[in-house]
Amino acid sequence: MVIDAKQSLNNPKIPSVTVPPHPEWPEFSPNGLTQLKNRIKLLLKEQNAVLVAHYYTDSALQDLADETGGCVADSLEMARFGTEHPAETLVVAGVRFMGETAKILNNNKRVLMPDLGATCSLDEGCPYDLFDSFCNEYPEHTVVVYANTSARVKARSDWVVTSGIALPIVKHLAQKNEKILWAPDKHLGRYVQKLTGVEMIFWPGSCVVHEEFRSVALQRMQKLHPDAAILVHPESPEAVISLADVVGSTTALIDAVASLGNKEFIVATDAGIFNKMRQIAPDKILLEAPTVGEGATCQSCANCPWMGMNSLHNLAEVLENGKNEVLVSPDLAEKGAIPIRRMLDFAKTLKK
Ligand code: 13P
Ligand code: SF4
Repeated sequence: MVIDAKQSLNNPKIPSVTVPPHPEWPEFSPNGLTQLKNRIKLLLKEQNAVLVAHYYTDSALQDLADETGGCVADSLEMARFGTEHPAETLVVAGVRFMGETAKILNNNKRVLMPDLGATCSLDEGCPYDLFDSFCNEYPEHTVVVYANTSARVKARSDWVVTSGIALPIVKHLAQKNEKILWAPDKHLGRYVQKLTGVEMIFWPGSCVVHEEFRSVALQRMQKLHPDAAILVHPESPEAVISLADVVGSTTALIDAVASLGNKEFIVATDAGIFNKMRQIAPDKILLEAPTVGEGATCQSCANCPWMGMNSLHNLAEVLENGKNEVLVSPDLAEKGAIPIRRMLDFAKTLKK
């Protein structure tokens, strides 16, 4: 089956995000901000809720999650954390697939999101009906989907993976001589295929944020900073990955800043990650990998527009009004939970 990249909606409209200030808390005044944070802390407590945030969200949100006993993490850890935390409500600051994963794994809990419109270009670019037809053409293949997909696509898969665990899972499948149908991120898929040698066919999806990193401009930057380590998220194009000293999930890239001896780092992923990197290694110099240069058509310049839809303001609002609850039908949740739990169980065996 030939999939038309346009048909697969790989260029979803990028939202322009303007979050209106909450009327009761004047924006940007230090007092207003403290009041707002205190209000959210109180609401979290009153509602037995915990904040689960991704590294790409606004730094104020990340800090609040840390301060209130929540978590700031990559998508694998966000999923795991939600299943193990006793709170009755999970407030997921991230994009929709993260909220859906939380709901699928915790059907007895309430899952809220600051903005239900926060999607992901990978998810949008892999609509269920097209994906289902694609899978039907390769019945012999094991279907492995990236977590950045809808609940229905996950339910159609054998395995769900995140960037943090894709490689060991595919290695495990390669040992069993399985052929893999991979969706939707073609760059991560090719990277994993290169390292495992497994037979794979790909869905032609990509992330609009990581697609923007430019290898030629990165090489030029490397010449100006010869001692800098280059850290690349594997959703980036192959030519960018090939220049990396470390390729890995958001957590792996943060760990690299702390553990490598380099003073300088060039980082090819969403700029939201700098908040955590600065916290754990304040003495290191962090540089954004270039999203401009030959052939650049930078639309969001290393800032995921959908992650940017999460703010303290809409977080406070959903806690106050209970709107934006993530709902997944029990039937779909039951099916979707199987490949996600398979991933989480596999992660546990790796830890051991
Ligand atoms: P991580 O699981 O590495 O945090 O990646 C999620 C993501 O959406 C990256 O763009
Ligand atoms: Fe999706 Fe890319 Fe945003 Fe991650 S950075 S949520 S892959 S659009």
